[in-house]
Amino acid sequence: MNFRTIIEPFRIKSVEPLAFTTREQRQAALEAAGHNVFLLHASDVLIDLLTDSGTGAMSSAQWGALMQGDESYAGSRSFYRFEQVVRDLTGYRHVIPTHQGRAAERILFHTILVPGDVVPNNNHFDTTRANIEVEDAEARDLVIPEGRVPSLIHPFKGNIDLEALERTLEHDGGRVPLVMVTVTNNSGGGQPVSMENLRGVRRLCDRYGKPFFLDACRFAENAWFIRQREPGYGEHTPRDIAREMFGLADGCTMSAKKDGLANIGGFLALNNDEWAERARNLLILTEGFPTYGGLAGYDLEAIATGLEEVVEEAYLRYRIRSTEYFADKLVSAGVPIIQPAGGHAIYIDARSLLPHIPPLEYPGIALVNALYVEAGIRSVEIGTVMFGRQHDGTEVPPAMDLVRLAIPRRVYTQSHIDYAAEAVIHVASQKDRLRGYRMTYGPAVLRHFTSRFEPR
Ligand SMILES: Cc1ncc(COP(=O)(O)O)c(C=O)c1O
Repeated sequence: MNFRTIIEPFRIKSVEPLAFTTREQRQAALEAAGHNVFLLHASDVLIDLLTDSGTGAMSSAQWGALMQGDESYAGSRSFYRFEQVVRDLTGYRHVIPTHQGRAAERILFHTILVPGDVVPNNNHFDTTRANIEVEDAEARDLVIPEGRVPSLIHPFKGNIDLEALERTLEHDGGRVPLVMVTVTNNSGGGQPVSMENLRGVRRLCDRYGKPFFLDACRFAENAWFIRQREPGYGEHTPRDIAREMFGLADGCTMSAKKDGLANIGGFLALNNDEWAERARNLLILTEGFPTYGGLAGYDLEAIATGLEEVVEEAYLRYRIRSTEYFADKLVSAGVPIIQPAGGHAIYIDARSLLPHIPPLEYPGIALVNALYVEAGIRSVEIGTVMFGRQHDGTEVPPAMDLVRLAIPRRVYTQSHIDYAAEAVIHVASQKDRLRGYRMTYGPAVLRHFTSRFEPR
């Protein structure tokens, strides 16, 4: 059919009511939460764009698959189905289930890192960085320079800077146990990585004898961008593109809460037998027996079905278009966002929207909190609070202060997105009224989750 309108490729079988609150109620809820939206009760949120992680709606096929879950402690049928689906998709020999992505990261990095090691990546996600730093190793971000300029249009802003990677391998190669690339690049705006760039990483890894791992949380969204934007891929299926991406690497960490279309789960998949054996031993210590790894049999079923659904063309076309639709509205109204739109989220450039709030007074938190109070929308700061704290306790603002509005998969309709866009445009029009914040409590690592603030 040649109609222009891209519709949600599903109809709704079960609905969940939204909670409407007054501005005064939201103001009180935010104060009680220490001005940190992570500490709100979700029932006080109208449209929850905090994260796309684990917040998606499962399909009727996934709910059906739950009933097929085999809850045997060892050797469950659901594990073997899950293993087969992951192997068919990635081609990796060893498939190790974990309760979510960070558990796969923890197990991989604890297995292979020693103090002083360096892990290059385009941009490490916060849990990836934390799991590297906790081993006294360095998480080195090497995204291309274009990836650091929010307004700059580039088809693959998530690409890693191959020259910078080569310099790292040349100078610090002895300390690099593996190279990682995050697809899509969440911390850099949900931006995709091209196949050409992944091929370049493979070549360098071969030249310097290094394993290459993907942080594959949003592999299907990345595959769709490659199909849309990279010459030669327009006729390939997303599944074939994904397989080619995985085929260039030696392993991956995965949060099934994103492109697994599941509410919980993840895995580590890899070819290295020795690493896999050590990882499984650690898995038993902290996650569980290798055929369930912290998950129920029904979770393994839901993930297996989700991994099959996520590469469907109708789904990916709708998914990427709905994010772009949101972005188009904000761009038309002059709201500064990372362009072009990423796959799973809109990233507002809070630092440039609120130049009167210095980075150390957290412009991202000011915007997040205003969006909540004005419209009941929950978003998240990706900036100085998330990344600014240094090892020695000092604060240095990162390259950008962003506010991310992540779009849960298959949850909100076009009118929800229209409402969210209207709310962002309204808050942006009142930007001069927004004030900065002071942090009154902040833990040493991953402080954005639990820190507390006071308005200045
Ligand atoms: C790129 C990336 N890597 C890793 C993770 C961690 O996954 P999880 O939240 O399942 O632990 C996330 C989660 O948002 C992510 O976006």
